[in-house]
Amino acid sequence: MRERLAFLSAVITSVLVLAMSGLLAVKLQSDAQAGASSGAQNLDREEEARFARGRALFFSEGCAGCHSVGGEGNPRGPLDGVAARRSREQLRDFAFGTGTAAQELPRRIAVAKSVYAELSDADREAILAFLESLH
Ligand code: HEC
Repeated sequence: MRERLAFLSAVITSVLVLAMSGLLAVKLQSDAQAGASSGAQNLDREEEARFARGRALFFSEGCAGCHSVGGEGNPRGPLDGVAARRSREQLRDFAFGTGTAAQELPRRIAVAKSVYAELSDADREAILAFLESLH
């Protein structure tokens, strides 16, 4: 009788230990998933903020004096769909008149765009994020 009790309690203990480690594993996994998805949400929010800033800069820094987006700005230089035609490097060079675009753009325009060298890196990145959304 005592042996049976000892055996039973050993079985019950091991079942409990297994169940608890199973629960712990499930909890750890769901915590990890929650962490991963909230990280992705933060990234989305950062990207959205950069995009909104880039759009605002597009209008405040005079891009819209020569270009339009979605019907807003100067209709002579529409940029709708420009990201489908240009790589990120080309977008950067054409937007700010640097690199190979400095030769390809009309001289007057390249000179006009040279003022954008004074923008901060963060502002240029924001404008680029906005341009990259124009598919
Ligand atoms: C003085 C007028 C002027 C200003 C200001 C100007 N651009 Fe331009 N931009 C041009 C002209 C002209 C071209 C070459 C012709 C074209 O492709 O529209 C050009 C080309 C581009 C291109 C390549 C377009 C294409 O179709 O390949 C991008 C992108 C661009 N500009 C972005 C910008 C951004 C962003 C700003 C503001 C930071 C800006 N531009 C300011 C006149 C201007």
